[in-house]
Amino acid sequence: MTDELVSAYAIKHEAALNWVKQIADLCRPDQIRWCDGSSAEYDELCNKLVEKGTFIRLNPAKRPNSFACFSDPSDVARVEDRTYICSRRKEDAGPTNNWVDPKEMKQTLDQLMAGCMAGRTMYVIPFSMGPVGSPIAHVGIEITDSEYVVVNMHIMTRVGKRVMDVLGTNGDFVKCLHTVGAPLKPGQQDSTWPTNPTTKYIVHYPEERSIVSYGSGYGGNALLGKKCFALRIASSMAREEGWLAEHMLILGVENPEKEKTYVAAAFPSACGKTNFAMLIPPKELSDWKVTTVGDDIAWIKPGKDGRLYAINPEYGYFGVAPGTNEKTNPNAMKTIAKNTIFTNVAITEDGDVWWEGMTKEVPKNLTDWRGQKYDPASGKPAAHPNARFTAPASQCPSIDPDWENPNGVPIGAFIFGGRRSTTVPLIYQAHNWNYGVYLAATMGSEMTAAAFGEVGKVRRDPFAMLPFCGYHMGDYFNHWLQFGRDIPNPPRVFGVNWFRKDDKGNFLWPGFGDNMRVLKWIVQKISGKTNAVESPIGWMPHYDDIDWRGLDFSKQEFDRIMEIDREQWKQELLSHAELFERMYDRLPKEFIFMRELLLSSLWRSPEKWSLEPER
Ligand code: OXD
Ligand code: MN
Repeated sequence: MTDELVSAYAIKHEAALNWVKQIADLCRPDQIRWCDGSSAEYDELCNKLVEKGTFIRLNPAKRPNSFACFSDPSDVARVEDRTYICSRRKEDAGPTNNWVDPKEMKQTLDQLMAGCMAGRTMYVIPFSMGPVGSPIAHVGIEITDSEYVVVNMHIMTRVGKRVMDVLGTNGDFVKCLHTVGAPLKPGQQDSTWPTNPTTKYIVHYPEERSIVSYGSGYGGNALLGKKCFALRIASSMAREEGWLAEHMLILGVENPEKEKTYVAAAFPSACGKTNFAMLIPPKELSDWKVTTVGDDIAWIKPGKDGRLYAINPEYGYFGVAPGTNEKTNPNAMKTIAKNTIFTNVAITEDGDVWWEGMTKEVPKNLTDWRGQKYDPASGKPAAHPNARFTAPASQCPSIDPDWENPNGVPIGAFIFGGRRSTTVPLIYQAHNWNYGVYLAATMGSEMTAAAFGEVGKVRRDPFAMLPFCGYHMGDYFNHWLQFGRDIPNPPRVFGVNWFRKDDKGNFLWPGFGDNMRVLKWIVQKISGKTNAVESPIGWMPHYDDIDWRGLDFSKQEFDRIMEIDREQWKQELLSHAELFERMYDRLPKEFIFMRELLLSSLWRSPEKWSLEPER
C-alpha cells in the first residue's frame, strides 16, 4: 500500500479515511490526494491535463480559461448495457435494470480493481449534491484516478473541505469509486484518454448506497455525482425516506405582475431539456420571464407547509453541444463563453470550438473530434453527436436568484414530454394526480440515437427515468402514487409534445422560445386564470386560451396539433399494456383501472377528436 497521502486539510472522518485506505490497498495508486476544491487545484490539474496532451487550451481571446479534449472513440457516451443495479434481490432491481448478484459482482470487480490505479494518482473528492449544508442536499465521496473527472466534478458539484466539514466525524456519505481501468507499467507512456476499451462496468449497490465504475472516463459513467448518485442511488434513498429524485429540469416563470411559479419537467435524453430550462420568451411575450434552477436533475422534498420544494443537486451543466446555437439556446451560448470544458467538439483554426448546428457555414480547416483534419466531404460530423460542454451554472444569464436556496423552490406543476411525431397533442393536463402519474409512467419517445435501438421507434421511458431508476419501476410508480396521497394538494400534472409532425414530416410547432406560450397556459391554469376544455385524454386549452401575440398560428393548425386520433390512441393503449405486462408483479392496480377508463372514453369519442368540432 502506498503511504504517500496528500491533503491540504485534516480528515477527521474515520470511516471515510478507512474506506480510502482500503481502496488504496486494492487499487495501488502511486499517490493519494484529497481534493480541496480550490481554484488553485482546478488550475493545477487543468495545466497537468494540457501537459499530458489530454486538454487543448482554447484561444483565451475567444474562450477564456477553457479547454477542449477528445475522448477515445470507444468511450463516447453512457453505457446502459454495462450499467447494473446490484440490489440483494433480483426482484428489487426490476425488469428494466441489469442485475447481477452483488457478491458475484464484487468478486468480478475486486479482480479488475486489483492494481488498477498503478502509475496514477488516486484523487479523493468530497462533494455535495445540492447547496452545502442544505437539508435537501446529500454528500458523496468520489475516488478516481482521472484528472479529467476531478476538474469536471469541480464544475458539476460543490467540492472540497467545506463538504468534509458538513460530514463532521461520522456523517453519512455515498461511496463512489471510479477508475479508468488503465494501470500504467513503470515508464509506460499514458494515453491522452485513458480508458479500458474492452471492459466497462457501471455498478450500483442501492442498499449500501455505493457505486463502482470501471473502465470509462466519459460523462455519466465517470462523473458519479450525476446519473449514478443523483438519480440511481438517490431514487432508492428517496423511496425509503419519502422524497423524490427525478430526471427533471426546474424553471421559474415570472408573470407581468412579478408573481413567480416554479415547474419541474421531465423529458427523455435528446428532447431539448437544456433549451427548455433556459427558454427566452419571444419578444411579444417579453412581459413574461423564465429563470433557470436546473437543467437535468431535481431533488424534491415535502415542506412543512404541505408544498413540494425542489433543489438542483448539480452545480454546473453537462450539456449536449451539437444543435446549440444563438437561436436554439442563446443563454447556453453565453453560459459556455468562458471557464468551460468541451469534450468531443471540433476545434477551429483560431483555437475556438465548433459543432454541427452552431453556425450554418462549416468553418474551414477544422480539427474534428478524433483530432484529425476535418473533411466536410466525408459526410461524417466534425463534432461527435454526443459532444458535451461542462460549464458552471452560475454563468447562465437566466439563472434563478433562488437556485442555491438551501430550502429549495416550491413546485407548482410537473410537466412530462417525449418526442412523438404523431398521437400525442401539444399540451394536455391530467385530470388528477393518479392520472398524472399514469401519464408520466406511460410516456414514450421516438429514438434518435441508434445506440438505443431502431431510430424512429417509440421507446417507453417512464418519467424519463428508464435508464436511471435504482429499483423496480413498478415500486417507483407506487412511490409516486403514495407521495401524492400524502400531501394535501399535490402539483398539477401536464403532458407536452413539441415534436408532432404533419403528413409530410414537417414539425407542426416552432418550439424553442415559442414553448413559452404553452408554459404560460400551464402557469395560468394552475392559478385558475385561464380556461380549459375536457378531452378524452385530459384538459386542454382552447385556441383562444393561448397567447398568440407575434406568432401566425391558425385555429386549423392548432386543431391539427391538438387532434386526438382514436385509432392511434387505441394503439397507444395497447403499447401501455405491453409496458405493464413487463412489470406486472409490482404494477399499481390503479394503472389497470386508469387504462380501462381511458379506453372507455376513447371508445365513445369521434374518430378524430378535435377542439373545434364541426357543428
Ligand atoms: C443526459 C442524459 O446526459 O439524460 O443528461 O442522457
Ligand atoms: Mn439527463
